[in-house]
Amino acid sequence: MSNRRNLFIIAGLALAGLAVVVLFFDLPEGSEIFKREGCISCHSFKGSGGSAGPELTSVTSRRTDPWIRRQITDPKSHNPSSAMPSFRHLSRKEVTALIRYLKS
Ligand code: HEC
Repeated sequence: MSNRRNLFIIAGLALAGLAVVVLFFDLPEGSEIFKREGCISCHSFKGSGGSAGPELTSVTSRRTDPWIRRQITDPKSHNPSSAMPSFRHLSRKEVTALIRYLKS
């Protein structure tokens, strides 16, 4: 009886571990997207990057996550004459990864 219970506990832990690993590896790396998409050519973050756009080091304390998400996918919704290109082609997960990176 107790053996069987242990088996259930071990199987449960193994499944939980697997879920964590899958979730972790499924998330794209925000720092990579920041470079790949050229955010870094206009924005400085943690001491390096361009200066065409505002410095982003503490942006997540000034702006909410939904605001930043909108700025990334549709900057003209905040400022009709925005010089920032729209990154509509990014997936929801990629934008989430970018925001998480900006919080780091
Ligand atoms: C061609 C230059 C350019 C690129 C590339 C660019 N931005 Fe911007 N960004 C700007 C400018 C200029 C602003 C200032 C507000 C405006 O004009 O919309 C801005 C504003 C922002 C803001 C709001 C900052 C604040 O203090 O209010 C965030 C967040 C942001 N950009 C994130 C990104 C991310 C993430 C990327 C890459 C996916 C990116 N930007 C790519 C030029 C750029």
